Amino acid sequence: MYLEEIFGLKGKTAVITGAGRGIGQVVAVGLAKAGAEIAIVCRSGADETIQMIEEAGGKAYFVPCDVTDEAAVKSAVTEIIEKSGKIDILFNNAGICYHKKAIVLEGEDLGGLNDGEAAVEEFRNVMDVNLTGEYIMAVAVARTMIEKKIKGSIINMASMSGSIVNVPQCQAAYNASKAAVIHMSKSLAIEWAEYGIRVNSISPGYVGTPMSQPPFVHQELLDAWNPMFPLHRMAKPEELVPAILYLTSPAAGYTTGSDIVVDGGYTCI
Ligand SMILES: NC(=O)c1ccc[n+]([C@@H]2O[C@H](COP(=O)([O-])OP(=O)(O)OC[C@H]3O[C@@H](n4cnc5c(N)ncnc54)[C@H](O)[C@@H]3O)[C@@H](O)[C@H]2O)c1
Repeated sequence: MYLEEIFGLKGKTAVITGAGRGIGQVVAVGLAKAGAEIAIVCRSGADETIQMIEEAGGKAYFVPCDVTDEAAVKSAVTEIIEKSGKIDILFNNAGICYHKKAIVLEGEDLGGLNDGEAAVEEFRNVMDVNLTGEYIMAVAVARTMIEKKIKGSIINMASMSGSIVNVPQCQAAYNASKAAVIHMSKSLAIEWAEYGIRVNSISPGYVGTPMSQPPFVHQELLDAWNPMFPLHRMAKPEELVPAILYLTSPAAGYTTGSDIVVDGGYTCI
């Protein structure tokens, strides 16, 4: 009963971006099990997540949307308000990454670690999804929270890459975008504190999802990463759920502007 009181999400509506697979999918199931109704915001393919949530006894629906498209985000948020009446929780999770060097010299051997030289357009694309997309979503959702006097919780997906530089792959755009997410979250936490809206970020280490596995990641890179994990493995997406549940729940009533690191000790060494 006490746990239900401090961590329960009954009667809450949670919006989760990029929940068609990976971390977003697993967190969607976790928050649904805690009692929240889930609005899955992603570009396509939410059937599997909805089925997993329904099998777990929860409720979810799909709202197609590209988080970089401000008009699409506004209409997605309007649709969610029409369906659920309010939004209590936003987990801003959608993100992308490229392993590309800023400069590749002619004839340079990339050894299977990087996929070439990053075009400026690719740098912009990473910033657009990982940073600006989270900003667009956060603003659209916080506006409804303010209008409806909901003391909501926004969790922005950052990464340990926002504080350290991963090696041996090169991902300047990703690292910069995640550092910016951490500080944007602190900034919005202060801006919206007067409305009782809490804004935090979460910084995982490597997590076993499509983003961190072949074909996106070459075997050479996985072999290079393996000796670097203090716990000798990546995180399972399920191991992020409790930290996110904490941030969404009444238990975190005094937690805002924080970045919660769940990296298996990676950034300690
Ligand atoms: N996997 C890791 O090791 C790891 C570590 C730290 C942080 N993260 C972060 O966690 C988040 C989820 O990553 P994941 O590992 O589950 O990756 P993933 O590639 O499995 O999932 C990302 C999801 O985001 C969606 N998406 C991408 N661009 C979008 C857009 N413009 N609009 C809407 N949806 C979009 C994708 O369709 C996908 O469903 C990302 O922000 C990532 O940076 C991942």
